[in-house]
Amino acid sequence: MKHNVLRILFAAAEAAPFVKVGGLGDVVGSLPPALLDLSPSLKGTQLDIRVAIPFHAVIPRQVAPSQPEVTFSISTPAGPKQAHAYRADLRGIPVYFIDGDPIPREGGVYSLDTQKDGEKFTFFSLACLELCRALQWKPDILHAHDWHAALAIHQLAELREHDPFFRSTRGVLTVHNLPYMGAGTDQAMRAYGIKPRLDPRLPPWGSYQPLPMGLAAADHITTVSPTYSREILTPEFGCGLETFLQSRASSLTGILNGLDMKEWDPATDHLIKAPFNRDDLAPREENRKALLEEVGLDPWSDAPLLILVSRFDRQKGIDLVSDALRQVQSEPWQAIFLGSGDPLLEESARRLELDLPSRVRAVLRFDSQLSRRMFAGGDVLLMPSRYEPCGLTQMIAMRYGCLPVAHATGGLRDTIIDLGEPSRSSGFLFETASASALAATLRRAFAAYANRPSWVARQRFAMSQDFSWSRSAQAYLDLYFALTDSTQNQGDIE
Ligand code: ADP
Ligand code: GLC
Repeated sequence: MKHNVLRILFAAAEAAPFVKVGGLGDVVGSLPPALLDLSPSLKGTQLDIRVAIPFHAVIPRQVAPSQPEVTFSISTPAGPKQAHAYRADLRGIPVYFIDGDPIPREGGVYSLDTQKDGEKFTFFSLACLELCRALQWKPDILHAHDWHAALAIHQLAELREHDPFFRSTRGVLTVHNLPYMGAGTDQAMRAYGIKPRLDPRLPPWGSYQPLPMGLAAADHITTVSPTYSREILTPEFGCGLETFLQSRASSLTGILNGLDMKEWDPATDHLIKAPFNRDDLAPREENRKALLEEVGLDPWSDAPLLILVSRFDRQKGIDLVSDALRQVQSEPWQAIFLGSGDPLLEESARRLELDLPSRVRAVLRFDSQLSRRMFAGGDVLLMPSRYEPCGLTQMIAMRYGCLPVAHATGGLRDTIIDLGEPSRSSGFLFETASASALAATLRRAFAAYANRPSWVARQRFAMSQDFSWSRSAQAYLDLYFALTDSTQNQGDIE
């Protein structure tokens, strides 16, 4: 059957610019518009893409009109629960903010209370499906992201058995971070009448956790880089799901994240002091000076400025950074850390600043404006992640001429090129996530920095990389077409 319109619903916990905790927000805010940009290449098929996210308390109520576009109910064994969907627009894409009693009126996007988050995201996931029904809008593709929306995929598979409304809807689940599976959601699932997923391929503990349930029910699974899609099939990265994921390998694809190249452009970024581009890197020096002054560091001559912009989580290897920097104290360098999260990691950054006050500043908060000034003025980005499904921070840094020193894992391996030849290298990679490997690679980066012409050659190469969505958005579109009945349509794509 040929589709005149391909309807796609994105369901996720975050979507920039409305709400962003990490790269998930960047992706859900930029992939739908990138898909729409491909419309002209489609003959005879129109794209109708919509996004649903919870109306988190941190999202200002004024983003949407005060009246909901639709009100509907979610059935539970104890009776119906009301949900409201408020609508805003993101570059021509309707964004629905799902509200209702289970969406807390205060607090952040995620809380430490797994049961509270369990109910919030169970309600949200079920509401995504009922939203479609309330709008009388039958999606061809439900594209859910991470555990927060995974139950929508499970429920879709259940409904499809007997509910004609969803019979032709296909479910895609994208894994942005495998270890977060939604533990603590069982009480909420029971309260909403959700039964375990009886799939013999799943380990027993996975049959009643949102992410594994969604992964078992999905028509297709994607991860956010080709390398991570292979890594999760191994015990080291598979979090106990490796055998199950191997059984789904023919329905698993790694599609590299893209960047919104307009949003992240040092030539037009109004939030940095001196715009620049790869042919004119001189203004970077002004950005660097302004940044050091802003954080209260006196510049050291010939010392590379290292930056770290990250969630403070064990995933990101922040503990390795403190140790490695102590190991390279005989070298000249200065460093600025920006991030927040795990209190122990925050404390180790604070301690490094106290011990090395003329070299280190730790700014322990989320601050997107400061992050831009850091990308524009920093020389080296530290990203020694233990695992990294994709990573957008290194792509942003390279686009701003700040070269990453990173662990060769997941999307870091797929996006950073480290060859002997400077004019074909965009950063520095190391194979083992350890403080000594990071320290050794920092020494390599310091030596490269001391040779200015070759450093500039690396910066130019990094800045010329194509990190745009174009290729990956096309890969998602190809996948959507392959999954729907409209396989004939694929021939229509130019
Ligand atoms: P993850 O999603 O695992 O946190 P990514 O590298 O994919 O990692 O994306 C992180 C995004 O969040 C990037 O856009 C990065 O610049 C941003 N970010 C992370 N920490 C901070 C912070 N403290 N302040 C501002 N932006 C941050
Ligand atoms: C996750 C991953 C990160 C990825 C982001 C967006 O938060 O940790 O590697 O870039 O999602 O896909």
